[in-house]
Amino acid sequence: MSETIGVFEVENRVFPPPEHFVGQANADDRSMYTEAEADYEAFWARQARELITWDKDFDTTLEWDLPFAKWFVGGELNITANCLDRHVEAGNGDKIAYLWEGEPGDTKTLTYAELLTEVKKFANVLKGLGLEKGDRVAIYMPMILELPIAMLGCARIGVAHSVIFGGFSADAIVDRCDDAQAKLIITADGGYRKGSASALKPTVDAALASGAPSVENVIVANRCDLNPDMVEGRDIWWHEAMAAASDDCPAEPMDAEQLLYILYTSGTTAKPKGIMHTVGGYLTQVAFTHKYVFDIKPETDIYWCAADIGWVTGHSYIVYGPLANGVTSVMYEGTPDTPDKDRLWDIIERYKVTQLYTAPTAIRMFMKWGVQEPQKHDLSTLRVLGTVGEPINPEAWMWYHEHIGGENTPIVDTWWQTETGGNMITPLPGVTATKPGSACHPIPGVFAELVDDDGNTVTNGGGYLTITKPWPSMLRGIWGDPQRYKDTYWSRFEGRYFAGDGAKLDDDGYLWLLGRVDDVMNISGHRISTAEVESALVDHPTVAEAAVVGSNDDVTGQAIIGYVILRGGNEASVELGNEIREHVGTKLGKIARPKTVIIVPDLPKTRSGKIMRRLLRDVADGRELGDTTTLADPSVVNEIATRAAEGGDED
Ligand code: WTA
Repeated sequence: MSETIGVFEVENRVFPPPEHFVGQANADDRSMYTEAEADYEAFWARQARELITWDKDFDTTLEWDLPFAKWFVGGELNITANCLDRHVEAGNGDKIAYLWEGEPGDTKTLTYAELLTEVKKFANVLKGLGLEKGDRVAIYMPMILELPIAMLGCARIGVAHSVIFGGFSADAIVDRCDDAQAKLIITADGGYRKGSASALKPTVDAALASGAPSVENVIVANRCDLNPDMVEGRDIWWHEAMAAASDDCPAEPMDAEQLLYILYTSGTTAKPKGIMHTVGGYLTQVAFTHKYVFDIKPETDIYWCAADIGWVTGHSYIVYGPLANGVTSVMYEGTPDTPDKDRLWDIIERYKVTQLYTAPTAIRMFMKWGVQEPQKHDLSTLRVLGTVGEPINPEAWMWYHEHIGGENTPIVDTWWQTETGGNMITPLPGVTATKPGSACHPIPGVFAELVDDDGNTVTNGGGYLTITKPWPSMLRGIWGDPQRYKDTYWSRFEGRYFAGDGAKLDDDGYLWLLGRVDDVMNISGHRISTAEVESALVDHPTVAEAAVVGSNDDVTGQAIIGYVILRGGNEASVELGNEIREHVGTKLGKIARPKTVIIVPDLPKTRSGKIMRRLLRDVADGRELGDTTTLADPSVVNEIATRAAEGGDED
């Protein structure tokens, strides 16, 4: 196995589903696994018919032209009718869809009927701007209710949304709008973060001043009264457009393979990939996993996924899955330590939250803040705890189990990706006996295998994680680049989807995810490619060459370390290191800003000129340096280690 997958420690504790949970769970035996193993297509066809309302039934469950899949062929549906209209028509219009909590403490609620009206109006706003089925729209918004309304407004009329996380830069907006040829950007003046209003609209203005000529209009929601500049003829206030819009917009049936959205994610090159998802298969799998993995009881549950909608977790488990299942969700605008470090626990107590879905990095941060914070609150309403985004270390799992779950709440560690659309490997809370740190098994209808470097199946021990059969919410490709889709995911091991992760299978058949085996870093559960950061580093006028690695970090999982060589005539200094760091923040967005930039005289390279990242990682982690004999100039490493020990430039 690759050296990047870390040290595997055996973890033997086993936690069967709590007794009180089993009798009431949506799934409390293995029958779905058996059914799906016998005929996975029939299994998914049954789920699609049970969970989704089709305007026209499909005639073929799966058309598989490796690696291109079409699911539920011939079927027609409207995804927003499934998320909204059918609940209203069933008499649940007054049920709350979102309990929204703003960071300053302001609150709003939106019922299913109200959300439907807003979505219809917004769809009409889009139509009024000339947008049509098949067009693409970029969304760059804070966590306010206008965000799901915008997404669903697009989906209602078949316009594909491309949500860009609010932490990304103007350049990132330009790249994504250019790639997708987006005609419109939906944004807000700003949002609240860490106690104050943080502007967003100026970043959109900067993007449009420098590029993205396909964008004709900008719709701006007013969240913070920041009074942004509005460009005459281009920019439109959300509230003005909505006030003038009709709320009559029937849900038009669409082909199951209609493009729902594009979501850009980092790969191993500097150019992000536009991952495509389509309506029928995606909704089937997110509705299915949401219902069974989180054991959703729409009548009584208050579900909370504390992710940002800017990432796939928010798309699938704040917007489409929960709405398809008709549950009430909490949506929170801000950060977990504002105004105080018990913010999450306070929200859980006040709203009587029953499911919490968060990331290991957040759990490690809560551990650092101390048990006194959750202990201030009654968390006894919690029934299921979820994690996603990165491997969870057993210590964090146990802390979650003891201090948040009161030792009797199942934990679902869900492995999946932007590309997979929905959960793939996870326990089912009423069925699976869990082990702290293991995502356990593929869900019914999903098939995973580990393989070695040569593609041979590994039945015990470490290997590369591959998926062996198509699944409904799989990516339908990379926007505009079918060849890259084949090369990236389907060429490493023949006939298998290669996810980019290493994993280990233990003696009991449990899967342990070990992290990425490629040059993709995972910072607080966010994917960032080393190549992307390297190209932003060399974009700085003083930088000649750069190498980026993810070093181990107790809280964020990995931290970005940039090693740079300066161009001749520039003097190394702490100030310059900081300036280079900030440059990456401006180029890519704050989340991609290196924790440390270390200015070095040279980089360790093999004789064929490849940068030895393993050595750079070892240096960053302060590890003993192994064999350096393959290096062109072994003395370089000592010099780098000395510089690193002197400390880079850090916040
Ligand atoms: C990692 C997030 C271990 C993994 C939904 C994957 C995980 C990448 C887990 C996808 C988990 C996600 N255990 N690793 N439970 N969940 N990952 O596209 O490396 O932002 O390839 O999707 O996160 O990140 P993405």
